[in-house]
Amino acid sequence: MASQLRYLVFALLSLLLFVLVGYSRFEVPYATPFAKQGDSATSLQQVLQFIYNPSRFSITTPSFVHNGKTYTLPSIPRHTAPLGRDICILDVDTRSFDSEDQIFHGPDFDWPKLESYSGGIMNHYMYARAHGYDYKFYKANETDDRHPTWVKIAGLANTLKNYKYVVFLDADAIFNQMHVPIEWMLNYWSIDSTISLTMALDPPGQVNEDKRGRLYSNTGFIIAQNNPKTFEILKAWDECPTETRYKGCAEWNKVRFHEQSAYGSYIRYDYNNYLKELPCGEANGEWDLELCQGVFIQHMWWRTATVRSYFGDKTLQSLMGRMHAEVINEKDQIMETQD
Ligand SMILES: *[C@@H]1O[C@H](CO)[C@@H](O)[C@H](O)[C@H]1NC(C)=O
Repeated sequence: MASQLRYLVFALLSLLLFVLVGYSRFEVPYATPFAKQGDSATSLQQVLQFIYNPSRFSITTPSFVHNGKTYTLPSIPRHTAPLGRDICILDVDTRSFDSEDQIFHGPDFDWPKLESYSGGIMNHYMYARAHGYDYKFYKANETDDRHPTWVKIAGLANTLKNYKYVVFLDADAIFNQMHVPIEWMLNYWSIDSTISLTMALDPPGQVNEDKRGRLYSNTGFIIAQNNPKTFEILKAWDECPTETRYKGCAEWNKVRFHEQSAYGSYIRYDYNNYLKELPCGEANGEWDLELCQGVFIQHMWWRTATVRSYFGDKTLQSLMGRMHAEVINEKDQIMETQD
């Protein structure tokens, strides 16, 4: 009897040892201690590239196809190597977005409850991390004399000092093609070294025209390139309402479209050679509009409340598309058919 019990205890201990040793050998990649995982910024970039960029789209991919339309790079693209942290993706806002259900609130993150603008900011941040750019949120002070949207000019100028390019987006504007890098867009839009500011046109319609009948450029998406002219233009724009140079500009302090109207009514006429206007179909508007579908940059004026869900759905589609491709790839091994 005693020997039988000893035998049983020995057997149980052996089994326990076997299980423990077996488990300790089982190491999924993300169970590896962080110290052994290599540079975590690099691995996050790899994860995001895995999710968003299965086709390995690059800075010099000759063309981009969307809804049957082909967007082709010039034969000699200016940028062939990543600019990395010479590019900054920028939000500028007077709101700090740190209340419950906002992006800079620490605890209790709950994606379905996140308010919409925070979803837009998340898009900008994730896009920057996916491509190795810097990301900054510039918290500006409100002023009594001007509408809050004016602060983007000072935010741009202050940030641009430290970068070759700053890409600014309103919180209701998002990168619509997470896999298409800024460098590709710089190539595609032929933004050469002389261009200071690039923006997309607004849709046709009298409400979007300046007093001379020219369509406004929309200030919800701005690519600023660091050169001396750019700082001169930003200064002229920011000082426009003082009316030392532009009589009548103070009209736009609080009246729509604020800094956009000031830019459209005054600034662009003095600096036309340094500015680029993009078609609204490529960098302004919403996916289901007839004229301005914002292929590369969505700007959700009508559907501001859907920024978060739209971006979330697109992200889930990318991830699930990746997984689905794996399932199809392994289908022959996965599938067992009953005889
Ligand atoms: C902006 O606001 C902060 C916090 O209230 C304050 O410390 C800072 O001096 C302000 N800056 C300017 C330029 O008004």
